[in-house]
Amino acid sequence: MKNDHNSKFNTNAVHAGYHAHSGPVNPPIEESSTYAFESCDDGAERFASKDKEGIYSRLSSPTVNALEKKIAKLENGYGGIATGSGIAAVSAIYFHFLDKDSHAIATASMYGPSRTILENSSFYKKWGAQSTLLDTSVVDDIKKAIRPNTKLIYIETPANPTLAITDISKVSAIAKEHKIPLVVDNTFCSPYLQNPLDWGADVVLHSMTKSIGGHATAVGGILIAKTEKDYYGLRSVVTNTGGILSPHDAILFFSGVKTLGIRMERMQESAIRMADYLRNHEKITWIFYPGYEDHPMYYLVGKDKQMRGPGALMSFGVKGGLKGAKTLLDNVKLNTLAVSLGGVESLIQSPALMTHAGVPKEEREKAGIKDELVRYSIGIEEFEDLRADMEQALAKI
Ligand SMILES: Cc1ncc(COP(=O)(O)O)c(C=O)c1O
Repeated sequence: MKNDHNSKFNTNAVHAGYHAHSGPVNPPIEESSTYAFESCDDGAERFASKDKEGIYSRLSSPTVNALEKKIAKLENGYGGIATGSGIAAVSAIYFHFLDKDSHAIATASMYGPSRTILENSSFYKKWGAQSTLLDTSVVDDIKKAIRPNTKLIYIETPANPTLAITDISKVSAIAKEHKIPLVVDNTFCSPYLQNPLDWGADVVLHSMTKSIGGHATAVGGILIAKTEKDYYGLRSVVTNTGGILSPHDAILFFSGVKTLGIRMERMQESAIRMADYLRNHEKITWIFYPGYEDHPMYYLVGKDKQMRGPGALMSFGVKGGLKGAKTLLDNVKLNTLAVSLGGVESLIQSPALMTHAGVPKEEREKAGIKDELVRYSIGIEEFEDLRADMEQALAKI
């Protein structure tokens, strides 16, 4: 399916959700938890309304609503629901779609805590949720894993940190055949590079902490539903379980996302150059980056394809295994040793020691997350400075 809205992406990123003809160009931060009613009838009417505006800011805040409308527009969805973190958005998905003793199929190599809260008996499993974690890029394996009680297919594409890409349209066809909702975590690509709803997903989610905010200033998440039904269902979960976003943080994301398109272009351009450099470096043993024809899902990457470009993230292995990876990470000076991704600062980390340390080693390795894997998110700094920093750190191995 061809996506024709991207030419307007930057215009929508700036103006969608709130466009002033006079007064402030950003929505005011409305600092009020509660709202006065004109009369009992007014209060009763507001409570009876679908959108619950002007009641209490956990239910609806105009500042947060402006952000939700903007991101929903960028994702071509019915509506967005902002959450206090990306993981609150993931949790709302499990809460909404899974009921007692139901089963979820999900990407094995997904963000560590997204996997932990599904599999670990301290979280959803204690209420009977079952899960099959697999390489969702192998679509036939998804088909085989479907059970009568499967209520959710949850994919992260590209996966974190293996950069494995799942064909959303193919999975969507299977999901529709079996009437199972399909949810995609689109954090790695951002709406600039990928719009899962256009390829058949029912809900798309983001950790806005990453490229949507872009400046490492706040933690937040968002869910965008394709249909009115899923939108109100998910909104009810978020407002009633309390994982909402504050108006103060909403404004950071609202202004940050205005430059998403130009940031992603710049980051991707440097990432392509960095992948070329690392791929030919004697200390690098392998690299996962979807910018090369030898990536198994390269057919999904490029203009008018599922993923409109290879993005700004890569993973690679270093000579000397975990010891080599630690030497690299302990010696970078400009590249920052930190988790998170997608922002203006280049961040580098070890998933085995950090983001995915909560996934048991055996499961981690089965999912392709080897100890020596280094995840690298390229920012907007000068490429030559980033490259020089990598060169001096790699020389220490
Ligand atoms: C792909 C992905 N999804 C979800 C999350 C969770 O987001 P947050 O840290 O904003 O809760 C992350 C965090 O790194 C992530 O990388």
